[in-house]
Amino acid sequence: MAYTLEQFSADCHRVLTAEPGPEGRKEVCALVQKACADPEFVRQYLPENGPERKILYEDPELGFCILGHVYHGAKESQPHDHGPTWAIYGQAVGETIMTDYERVAPASSEQPGQARPLRDYKLTPGDAYVYNEGDLHSPRRDGPTQLIRIEGRVPKPKPLSLLVPATNTLDESERALGDSVSLLLGDNLRVLVAPSKHYAFSFRGRRFLVLDVHDGKMAVSCRLGDEKNRPIASIVRNHFKPAPGRYQYHAHSDGHTFLVRGANDEEVLSIRYASPAKIRITGRFHLPWLSEPIAITSAEGIRWPGGGLAADMTVSLAQQGQGTVDFEPSGLIQILR
Ligand SMILES: [Fe+2]
Repeated sequence: MAYTLEQFSADCHRVLTAEPGPEGRKEVCALVQKACADPEFVRQYLPENGPERKILYEDPELGFCILGHVYHGAKESQPHDHGPTWAIYGQAVGETIMTDYERVAPASSEQPGQARPLRDYKLTPGDAYVYNEGDLHSPRRDGPTQLIRIEGRVPKPKPLSLLVPATNTLDESERALGDSVSLLLGDNLRVLVAPSKHYAFSFRGRRFLVLDVHDGKMAVSCRLGDEKNRPIASIVRNHFKPAPGRYQYHAHSDGHTFLVRGANDEEVLSIRYASPAKIRITGRFHLPWLSEPIAITSAEGIRWPGGGLAADMTVSLAQQGQGTVDFEPSGLIQILR
């Protein structure tokens, strides 16, 4: 009996619900091969006079799409990946020459990426291949072709839960500080400020990190940059959004610490709500007009282009009252209102 679209889509849904990652996609790839090799399926959903692109099915829950493509002549695409998501190409009629690439330099907002061809291979009827996140490829079709393609979808990011203090008991050194909150930049640069509902940091008056506290719970807002100050992600009240092409960065939380890591597990941001009187911060913060990010590290305190403040210092700003902790290129720290 012929494979129907209803069966095909239900099979894909079942597989991807159980295993949304690359292993599940391999199973879906086998289903695409089955559909492509089914003459009745191809006749019905990929008619020769069909449109170049038609959405045959869109999964209401998982968001993936099954598309039918009927190309009436030659068709070629530039090397590309599918951004934050994945795709499966299945050949039903005709031939596709596919080229896989190795990424040489990532794309940025200023210039396109660079890629080196790795291999060419042919998709003939009944063949299907998976292209996972970041897999660069370019299809070329020299004559009429009919194909099935599945496009994944990125699940909508959920904001991470608000941070609560790791402990509500203040240690002796914290009690000794009286009515002030210790903002620890790295491990040894301590900035004492008046207790507030908003702990904000700025450089030359431009804010790069805001911590909002409401009912004992903290929300993080900032923009992150890489070593060259290219944007990585923005965080708005614990809602993490990677910049285009930066989908390898991920945010995590254990309820007390907001962590952002890159593809090699390197840490880009760590905000720990240690106690109601202590918040520890490390990270690389992006301000668009700077040549380097503002870097707060455990070893070096805070650094900005051309300067910084070394670790092993305590700066008390608690007497200046509530406001934004502002750093000037000269090294001056003050509270701005
Ligand atoms: Fe593609």
